[in-house]
Amino acid sequence: MSTPFHVESFLDNDSETFTYVVSDPATNKAVIIDPVLDFDYSSGRVHNASAQIIAKYIDESALTLEWVLETHAHADHLSAAPFFKERYKAKIGIGKHITQVQKTFKALFNLEKEFLPNGTQFDKLFEEGDQLNVGNITFEIMHVPGHTPADLAYLVNNQAIFVGDTLFMPDIGTARCDFPGGDAATLFNSIQRILALPDDTIIYVCHDYPTEHRTHECAVTVAEQREFNIHVKERTSKSTFIEMRETRDATLSMPRLILPAIQINIRAGELPPAEENNTRYLKVPINQL
Ligand SMILES: [Fe+2]
Repeated sequence: MSTPFHVESFLDNDSETFTYVVSDPATNKAVIIDPVLDFDYSSGRVHNASAQIIAKYIDESALTLEWVLETHAHADHLSAAPFFKERYKAKIGIGKHITQVQKTFKALFNLEKEFLPNGTQFDKLFEEGDQLNVGNITFEIMHVPGHTPADLAYLVNNQAIFVGDTLFMPDIGTARCDFPGGDAATLFNSIQRILALPDDTIIYVCHDYPTEHRTHECAVTVAEQREFNIHVKERTSKSTFIEMRETRDATLSMPRLILPAIQINIRAGELPPAEENNTRYLKVPINQL
C-alpha cells in the first residue's frame, strides 16, 4: 500500500511560479518547495506577502516545516527560503552542483571575496540518489541538469515528482537551456529519466504560462507528458529536441528578474551584504547577458 502525503500548491501570479507544501498527514511534518519572495523591480523593494500566505496555511494546518527545498537557482523569481528558515527553523537544501552556478555568477557579478562559491550558504547539498525522510514521506533526489547544471527533481514516495524547470505542462513544453551551464542535450537526457517513471506518476511543474484558453495548472501525469508534450513526446529524437530547443532559445529575451534573482538565489535567498552606508545593492552588468 502506498504511503499517503498531501500536496498544497500556491501560485505566484507575478512570476507564474508554483510553490508547494508537501506534508505527511500522520506526523504533520512538511517541506516547502521553491518559495517566492516578492520583488518590485522599479522601487527595489522586497516584501513577503506571498510567503505570508503560505505561512498562514502552514500555521493553520499545524504543520512542522522541516525543509525548504529548491529545485535550482531560479532566474525568474527571488527565493523566500530565509523567511521560512527563520520562522520555522527549517533547513534549506539544493543540488550540490549549485557550486558551479555560484562560480559562474560570482565572476559575472564580481561579487565580494567573502562570498565563497562552495554551497555553504545552504544547509544541505543534495546529490543524485540521496534520500530525504520527512515523517513517513521519502523524497528521492534526482539530478536533472540541462536547464541549469544544478537542477534537482524530488520524487515523492514513488508517486509524484517535483520537476522544477525540466518539464512544463504539455502544451507549453520545456524550459530554456541557454543560461550559463545549460545544455539542450543534457536536458533531453534528464527528461528521459522523468518520462521513464510509471505512467501514473504525477509531475508537478514549477511554472505554467497558459494561453488564454485555460487557467494555470500545475500537475500532469507522466503518461500525458509522453503523449502530448509539444517539445518532447515519447518518440521525439534527441537531435530533433536539440534543434528545436536551440532555435527557440535564440529567440528568447532574458527573464525580467534574472539579474536580481540570480544574485539573491545563489546566496540561498539572502540579500547581498550592506555597504558602509548600510544599504544593500544589486548589480546590473552591462552587455554581459
Ligand atoms: Fe528556472
